Amino acid sequence: MPYLCDIKIYIQSHHKTMEEAIKRLQIALGVLLVALLVIFVAGAAMIISYRPEAPVASSNGSGGADPAPPVAAAAPALDAVAQHGQTLFQNNCAACHAVGDEVLVGPGMKGVTARVPSREWLYKWIRNSSAVIASGDAYGNQIFNKYNKLQMQSFPDLSNEDIDAILKYVEVQGGA
Ligand code: HEC
Repeated sequence: MPYLCDIKIYIQSHHKTMEEAIKRLQIALGVLLVALLVIFVAGAAMIISYRPEAPVASSNGSGGADPAPPVAAAAPALDAVAQHGQTLFQNNCAACHAVGDEVLVGPGMKGVTARVPSREWLYKWIRNSSAVIASGDAYGNQIFNKYNKLQMQSFPDLSNEDIDAILKYVEVQGGA
């Protein structure tokens, strides 16, 4: 009987230490989990804050050193006005006109400002060439006949500034 009682005490005390050990393990696991969470959040924060810097650094590093000179080389040739002209020309005129002197549907634009009667004439012509032809304008009728009475599209929405920009682009690119 006393022997059995000893075992019971042993089991009870052992059980107690087991319980304590499990409790400590749980605490240790909790601490580990919190530590992992902190590491994860810190890592995520680093990735988030690093990502926007990475492309800037790479485009400033290799991109700034290498593609920058071509950009800088192209920029002086076409200023903002000529670039605006380029966009307008490509969207509205390039289907029928080359910037050089080849004939597409209409005449090449090279030397155009020098051969037409005036800049005012160009504004009127580009906005509505049929009206210029109908007015009996000599140059307009001559070129209209030369191009087999092919009617050029009208661009009533182009302002004088837009047309100046187109002509500037044409001058820079084709030597109008
Ligand atoms: C659908 C074709 C077409 C489009 C698009 C077109 N043109 Fe023309 N353009 C012609 C033709 C064809 C002529 C020759 C005259 C004629 O037949 O009316 C001409 C003549 C001209 C002339 C007189 C050229 C010269 O040698 O004296 C100018 C300037 C001109 N176009 C500018 C432009 C501009 C600028 C644009 C764009 C905003 C444009 N054209 C869009 C067909 C076109």
